Amino acid sequence: MKESQPSAIYLKDYKVPPFLIDKTELTFDLDETTTIVTSRLHMRRNPAFGKSTAPLILDGGEEVKLIGVAMDDYELPPEEYRISEDKLIITATADEFVLTCETLIEPQNNTRLEGLYRSSSMFCTQCEAEGFRHITYYLDRPDVMSVFTTTIIADEARYPVMLSNGNEVERGKTDEGKTVVVWHDPFPKPAYLFALVAGNLAVKNDVFITQSQREIKLQIFTESHNIDKVDYAMEALKRSMRWDEVTYGREYDLDIFMIVAVDDFNMGAMENKGLNIFNSSCLLASPETTTDDTYLRVEAIVAHEYFHNWSGNRVTCRDWFQLSLKEGFTVFRDQTFSADMHSETVKRVEDVSFLKTAQFAEDAGPMAHPVRPASFIEISNFYTLTVYEKGAEIVRMIHTLLGAEKFRAGSDLYFDRHDGQAVTCDDFVAAMQDASGVDLSQFKRWYSQAGTPVVTVTDSYEESTGTYRLIMKQHTPATPGQPTKLPLHIPVRVGLLSQQGGALSAQVNGVAAEDHVLHLKANEQEFVFTGLTSRPVPSLLRSFSAPVKLRYEYSAKDLLLLLSADSDGFNRWSASQQLAVNELTLLINQAIKGDELSIESQLIQGFKALLSDAALDPAMVALILALPSQAYLSELADPIYPAAIKQARQYLKAQLANALSADFERVYREHKIHGEYQATAEDIAHRSLKNIALSYWVETGDELAQQELVTQFQTANNMTDQFSALSIAVHSQHPKAAELLAAFYEQWQSEPLVVNKWLMLSASQEQENALATVKGLLEHPAFDLKNPNKVRSVLGGFGQSVSGFHKADGSGYQFLADQIILLNKRNPQIASRLCTPLTRWKKLQPELSVKMKAELERILAENLSKDVYEVVSKSLA
Ligand code: ARG
Ligand code: ZN
Repeated sequence: MKESQPSAIYLKDYKVPPFLIDKTELTFDLDETTTIVTSRLHMRRNPAFGKSTAPLILDGGEEVKLIGVAMDDYELPPEEYRISEDKLIITATADEFVLTCETLIEPQNNTRLEGLYRSSSMFCTQCEAEGFRHITYYLDRPDVMSVFTTTIIADEARYPVMLSNGNEVERGKTDEGKTVVVWHDPFPKPAYLFALVAGNLAVKNDVFITQSQREIKLQIFTESHNIDKVDYAMEALKRSMRWDEVTYGREYDLDIFMIVAVDDFNMGAMENKGLNIFNSSCLLASPETTTDDTYLRVEAIVAHEYFHNWSGNRVTCRDWFQLSLKEGFTVFRDQTFSADMHSETVKRVEDVSFLKTAQFAEDAGPMAHPVRPASFIEISNFYTLTVYEKGAEIVRMIHTLLGAEKFRAGSDLYFDRHDGQAVTCDDFVAAMQDASGVDLSQFKRWYSQAGTPVVTVTDSYEESTGTYRLIMKQHTPATPGQPTKLPLHIPVRVGLLSQQGGALSAQVNGVAAEDHVLHLKANEQEFVFTGLTSRPVPSLLRSFSAPVKLRYEYSAKDLLLLLSADSDGFNRWSASQQLAVNELTLLINQAIKGDELSIESQLIQGFKALLSDAALDPAMVALILALPSQAYLSELADPIYPAAIKQARQYLKAQLANALSADFERVYREHKIHGEYQATAEDIAHRSLKNIALSYWVETGDELAQQELVTQFQTANNMTDQFSALSIAVHSQHPKAAELLAAFYEQWQSEPLVVNKWLMLSASQEQENALATVKGLLEHPAFDLKNPNKVRSVLGGFGQSVSGFHKADGSGYQFLADQIILLNKRNPQIASRLCTPLTRWKKLQPELSVKMKAELERILAENLSKDVYEVVSKSLA
């Protein structure tokens, strides 16, 4: 352990910056071993800070070497400045001055992938959240906004493409024959939105005509062997640009918009002004190499980063505690966009399923934090599901409370009022409130209170008056640092069904409707529905109107009714999940006791009806057929018995497969698509239903099914079908699984993104020697510890292998801990992310829990990066 541990910073300590930087002029002299960065910062004291003689303190990184510093062209002697850890401190300054700094960095040795680094043959940057300080000394905080001019000097033969934010304004040669390119971005921005790219890249060009008839040049850059895989992203970009004009009235502002794909990237993508940089796994797509899920992800991320141009760039965050201001809002925007492009219900089911699995787990664990955190040690650890996905749910609830029209008035006011500013979540809510007149004062607690609220519902029906009552109670469990909670303003969308499944109109507060948004604001509250003639079945929390855990004692009969008849498609899915969870819970308990598993599954009846109803959306049927995942069942369980959950899922799946074998075979055949691959909602739906039907059919052990699987693997004209066949083979212990895996690698070894899928699937296998397999993968020529996608594939895949990761002797945990320790210094962000499965130790069955805890303690004894230290120490607290 270190002598002194990193300390937390607090939202309550926020102060405006003592200095401002009106203009930032950067020059990069890019070379193979060293890069020289010269900055000229046009600075002045910030009037809003008040009269002060405070010293100028600039942020830097330990690896940034200062060559020289000058104030108004007067070279500062060493006694007029000092470097303390990673800060550059200049004691005496004028009220207004130009600070010149010359620094040296070594991008090729930058393994953190923050700041300026090398990815294959190119230079690229990642500056959010605090990466810019690894390039040069700066006021690296989002409320310091500056106009950037960037000069790039490099050898044109090696780096014919040299890009930065804004517009290219000049191009020339140095005396030594190097090329000089100057970029200017007229929009003031914080340093986290700065970007630079240089390399030998291919480009795809296109244009977009805005609603006011301006012509925007669109460019996507990749290494030359990938340029044939950007057409889908380009079309998605144009759809996003149009959608933001129509839906939010937001037009693009610069004359050029560029996207670059890089292979080594810590996250998905980054919204740098005018120059988005993407992990190539989130941008490239072709039918042969890309699955349907990835097509949808590419579209969503292209849209997300584009939408940030307004929600994030034109209006940015005052400080990093406000991260959800841009991320929650932008996720909400990209979710709505995808819903508009495809199916609203399918998209909602996918998003909620993810939220309930992963965000709920985060909210119940040691890293639980409010959507607007009150403190952090390392901001990179707060790019979380809570800030992103729960943050999006908060914006969605505002949308529900205001209605579409007033919400749009609110977003218009927000963008108008705060254009060019760095603001807070409070400012966002204030704009929504001011434009709509809807009181959001209690609602705002959603930003400051962590934990998932539990809403418990009971009901009663009075025959004589036709009155139905819902009594709702809310309770939010304690989370670290927040022992008690206040009641939240929770919008609960409710409809009522007759016992025959028809939609019922009922009155609430004198308003008759089939669908009501109830405002649960107190700890306990009663809602009265009148005008009924018989006891209804409630459809609660329609479209998942709030991110809460709903408790209501539904009978299996009620759930089957909702599954077959609810007009709310989301709740049909939800009913099927609840039915399955109820049955799986029984089975899990049998497995924990060591009993033989047995159940009369009600799902058979429900599934049978679905499989023979040709009028249903095949995508919805596929979602309903998917049993609750191992991860979701783990979130619900306390304590978690991983092997029992796995056994229960397998048992139920086999039961359903055997009971409905003929239906699955028929559906498999009916939904085959003949003809060329298309990533349309319709075709994706057919493929998803076909492939889940195949997975059930294969589960029966039927020879014919097993042959069909091999045929599909061999003859598929697209990656979705080929990879589905392979995954099913691997997870059903198909006799040819190993052979197919080998054939797949053989076929795709020259496509790194496909190889990553192969790595993940190989690592996730359930087998006696799973740990040996994954250790073998780390030695495989296709593996590379420097590449986050590969690390995530292998270790993420391994985390899904119950027999491997949760091996009884703890060797799976030990293995993961070893990898975290190895990556801790090289790439702290990735190392910290890898800790997530270990943070669940308290909920694990006792024998495993102690073993997992011991590995966290072993990690904590190392000399840790801030990133890993924060997660591990909080997990053990
Ligand atoms: N702002 C990026 C997005 O669109 C994510 C950047 C994450 N960077 C980081 N260092 N955590 O979501
Ligand atoms: Zn984002």
